[in-house]
Amino acid sequence: MRKAIIAGNWKMNKTPAEAKALVEALKPLVKEASCDVVVCVPAVDIATAKAAAKGSNIKVGAQNVHFAKSGAYTGELSADMLKEAGAEYVIIGHSERRQYFGETDATVNQRVLAAVNAGLKVILCVGEKLEERNAGYTDALVEYQTLIALTGLDKKQVEKIVIAYEPVWAIGTGVTATDEQANETIGVIRAALARKYGKGTANKVRIQYGGSMKPSNVKGLMAQPEIDGGLIGGASLKAEDFAAVVNYDK
Ligand code: PGA
Repeated sequence: MRKAIIAGNWKMNKTPAEAKALVEALKPLVKEASCDVVVCVPAVDIATAKAAAKGSNIKVGAQNVHFAKSGAYTGELSADMLKEAGAEYVIIGHSERRQYFGETDATVNQRVLAAVNAGLKVILCVGEKLEERNAGYTDALVEYQTLIALTGLDKKQVEKIVIAYEPVWAIGTGVTATDEQANETIGVIRAALARKYGKGTANKVRIQYGGSMKPSNVKGLMAQPEIDGGLIGGASLKAEDFAAVVNYDK
């Protein structure tokens, strides 16, 4: 049995003071959660969120990481920096990074390797655009994105990766993939992992769904056998909404 993992992706929202208030509001609301609970916050909020989460079941994550250990990369943050600031997780390859910041499958792979080597837990995002789904490329594309991103990791390292399947057309649009669509594509990702790394490894990898997941649809999605959690954008910005997602089984 895989333990579910629900992660908030705050994106570019919340100042440090707002982050502290949100984490403090969340603490009592999610303390009975049966899943892992993570908030992926802007880098400047990591230390504050970590301090606010102390003594609770809330883990803190970052939203991106550079692949170099250090050096002349103005504006970037290394895995060691994020870790020391208090991040335990890091989102890599989010579609907004691919779309607006020139992220490629090759750089996603470099970032994954850097994060794993530094001991950060990776939430790797993959997913198709609407035109790719309509053209029938979804399965090939998510397989390709997933396997390239994991190149260079051994089976033991792959087991610990969390994958977030996020169809781009469902992110921030209010349109959710149907329970069956999400389950089916996550099954495709798991089958690709099984072919490459063996069934034992594939069955250990936790694969989330992301894209307009919210209190009203979380139950149906989480009832699907392949779906092991969620990456939550909009609905993670209010304590009550995020808690309702986290407590989907209550
Ligand atoms: P959303 O974002 O829940 O607002 O659709 C999800 C994500 O981008 O991770």
